[in-house]
Amino acid sequence: MEKQQLLYEGKAKKIYQTNEANILWIEYKDEATAFNGEKKDTLAGKGRLNNEISSLIFTQLKDKGIESHFVERLSETEQLVQKVEIVPLEVVVRNIVAGSMAKRLGMEEGTPLSKPIVEFYYKDDDLGDPLITEAHIELLEAASDEEVAQLREMALAVNEHLLALFSEINIRLVDFKLEFGRTVNGELLLADEISPDTCRLWDKDTNERFDKDLFRRNLGNLQEGYAEILARLTQHS
Ligand code: C5P
Repeated sequence: MEKQQLLYEGKAKKIYQTNEANILWIEYKDEATAFNGEKKDTLAGKGRLNNEISSLIFTQLKDKGIESHFVERLSETEQLVQKVEIVPLEVVVRNIVAGSMAKRLGMEEGTPLSKPIVEFYYKDDDLGDPLITEAHIELLEAASDEEVAQLREMALAVNEHLLALFSEINIRLVDFKLEFGRTVNGELLLADEISPDTCRLWDKDTNERFDKDLFRRNLGNLQEGYAEILARLTQHS
């Protein structure tokens, strides 16, 4: 496989074309951003940790029958993925109240939810990725009604598997964000990454944070937190 020209550089990843039309080459960067790019830093080793954690999680999901765009990990910071057209929605699943939901609804962080909540955010940096309803999704033509139903179903299925996976390593899966793409056949496929950048992960015994809130809220060393997740996942698999 040959790495070709840079197609896109995002906040956390660079995406390159390859000599295979349907395969992209992803490079995870060490940059951390929060609050829509307002807080920024370079954190050495973050790219490697997220690449390794995301590769492990996508592999374990595949073993449970959940497909994703992930093809193969190439190096510490690189992986190959299937090319998809990204659906402009961030699909957030919550098991415990935290973050923006705690703020928006005036609820205490850490309150367990009796059933998971799925939310849709419109992927638009200029708008600050607003929370939107299904009527807005239809209006914006971001996805069809049928796709929205599928996205919800797929996100809840991923949640079931991730809850079990993290529970086995003594981690509370508080919430997480997924992105999906459409394949050339028009099918929805899980895409982007699943890592401590995109999940809230708390130790079950101590509630210690091992996720991006370490950076967002200056709670501690991000790389140490992510390394703890990688170590627990590796020992377990
Ligand atoms: O900020 P908020 O509470 O809405 O985040 C919910 C979950 O989605 C968190 O796990 C957060 O890390 C993730 N998220 C993300 N990318 C965003 C927004 C939220 O990965 N742009």
